[in-house]
Amino acid sequence: MTRRILVTGALGQIGSELVPALRERYGAEQVVASDIRMMARNDLFAHGPFEFVDCTNLKQIQEVVRRHDVGTIHHLAALLSAVAEEKPQVAWDINMGGLYRVLEVARQNRCAVFVPSSIGAFGPGTPRVGTPQDTIQRPTTMYGVTKVAGELLCDYYHHRFGVDTRGVRFPGIISWTAPPGGGTTDYAVEIFYEAVRHGRYTCFLRGDTSLDMMYMPDAVQAIIQLMEADPARLVHRNAFNVTAMQFTPELLAAEIARHVDGFEIDYQVDPVRQAIADSWPDSLDDSAAREEWGWSPRYDLPAMTAEMLENLRRKLRADD
Ligand SMILES: NC(=O)c1ccc[n+]([C@@H]2O[C@H](COP(=O)([O-])OP(=O)(O)OC[C@H]3O[C@@H](n4cnc5c(N)ncnc54)[C@H](O)[C@@H]3O)[C@@H](O)[C@H]2O)c1
Repeated sequence: MTRRILVTGALGQIGSELVPALRERYGAEQVVASDIRMMARNDLFAHGPFEFVDCTNLKQIQEVVRRHDVGTIHHLAALLSAVAEEKPQVAWDINMGGLYRVLEVARQNRCAVFVPSSIGAFGPGTPRVGTPQDTIQRPTTMYGVTKVAGELLCDYYHHRFGVDTRGVRFPGIISWTAPPGGGTTDYAVEIFYEAVRHGRYTCFLRGDTSLDMMYMPDAVQAIIQLMEADPARLVHRNAFNVTAMQFTPELLAAEIARHVDGFEIDYQVDPVRQAIADSWPDSLDDSAAREEWGWSPRYDLPAMTAEMLENLRRKLRADD
């Protein structure tokens, strides 16, 4: 019997799809989902163990890790960029305090840990195009500060205590199962809902804002592949650049218009989220991930757009 996997923040955008994928791969009972929310009608409760775990509470993490014999923690609980900018003090407590406690429990119980970093770990001083794996990281948001500090803390726990920490710097993640949690790239999800429902969208970023993006199946695949990678091949750990596509709101709208007759976009720029987006790279260089653990995304802009629209149309029809 192998030790179990614990997922924190499991009811969020990524956890809602990572947990079913892990359960499919390793067995439903092997994957313990956890969050501080309880959601009605959520499949994550029905198809395997679920626990209430506040990641800022060391005793709660410790108790669940020991009771379920957890050997790997996927630590997804965090406040995202736009929310963190509204509540920077709370963001520090959750993003850093939560990570520190997860790493301490992992050290004491010999668990491996996956922690997602973000393109938010870069800042205005970072080379914007082809952003290298190892480069300047001086972010200007609280979210970015916690992501850089988190990368360093994970590397520290690896070097100092031998904890098997691994992470990726995710770009904006696009998905249709669960809504996004308050990030700067949320427009790239909202636009699909509005396209299907109303045939038009008002975007909170400027039309020419280029950012890295990824469709959720590739994000889930990245996590599984990295955690299964041969540690002897890993030169880097926290955290690998990964990307799948780059586009602007204008380009995404044009792609959607190929499937939704008469689709229109207009702009009402939110200065806070525009400033965050302007401080992030246009395109990442993810060659280290490709070389060290075989990263290779399947979805580009046309493939992602076609599948998002098909899945959302089905989902919204079923919800009616
Ligand atoms: N979604 C993206 O586009 C994206 C991009 C880059 C990085 N990431 C990172 O991936 C991780 C997961 O992101 P997501 O999009 O699923 O976020 P999300 O906001 O959708 O979900 C986060 C979950 O954490 C839970 N949570 C909040 N505080 C908690 C606490 N104290 N204890 C336990 N749970 C708590 C929330 O209830 C929520 O369900 C985060 O670290 C995020 O920074 C996400």
